[in-house]
Amino acid sequence: MSSPKKALLLVGSPRGRDSSSEALGGYLLNRLKEHGMETGKVYIHPSMLTERGQAEMLQAIDRSDLLILAFPLYVDSLPAPVIAALETIAEHRRTKVRKEQKLVAITNSGFPEASQMDTALAICRRFASETKIGWAGGLAIGGGEALHGRSLAEAGWMARNPRKALDMAATALAEDRPVPKETVDIAAKPLIPRWMYVFVANRWFKNEAKKNGAQDKLYDRPYQA
Ligand SMILES: Cc1cc2nc3c(=O)[nH]c(=O)nc-3n(C[C@H](O)[C@H](O)[C@H](O)COP(=O)(O)O)c2cc1C
Repeated sequence: MSSPKKALLLVGSPRGRDSSSEALGGYLLNRLKEHGMETGKVYIHPSMLTERGQAEMLQAIDRSDLLILAFPLYVDSLPAPVIAALETIAEHRRTKVRKEQKLVAITNSGFPEASQMDTALAICRRFASETKIGWAGGLAIGGGEALHGRSLAEAGWMARNPRKALDMAATALAEDRPVPKETVDIAAKPLIPRWMYVFVANRWFKNEAKKNGAQDKLYDRPYQA
């Protein structure tokens, strides 16, 4: 295959434009544009709600050479509408011979360790293999919740490793190479020190519990025998 010409970002977060998935995927898309690629974007959740939305999503996919799937980790897996979208795409590709395409996945999680996303990325890889889409690699950003939908530029110092990794990924993908292992390793570095992330997250959870009058129930075990 010659160098890919069109890249499509599939945003797999229900938060849509305000999501960390959008921030990460959008950054890569902009870098690919600077490398001369045409770019497009589809929001999976609203698309999956109607037949028309699904048809438009499939058309956009058919027109693309490189698919970027950006999604949050949900229960060690992908959000349900993203799984439904992958099943829809697989069915669509079964009915016709499709052109050669590549898939790169970017996922982010609440827990700070990138290894939390191993299973979800394995699912994406398996999807690529079963649908005969070339696997260009998967990037896992642990503790992506800390971005909270801010662009990687707005997130400043905290987003230095994702920015570096996505810059490197863009160079590789624009040259039709898979994302190098070194890039995956840089993306996997914590956004902020683990102790700081846990401290801030715990404070946030306690504040939320207080707001909802549940501060005395945090250690309840209602289903314990
Ligand atoms: C229903 C649900 C399930 C989640 N499951 C996990 C999980 O298994 N592991 C984890 O680390 N984070 C989990 N999270 C946290 C999200 O992955 C995290 O908040 C992420 O940054 C959201 O990204 P987004 O802004 O792109 O949607 C879950 C969040 C929700 C709402």
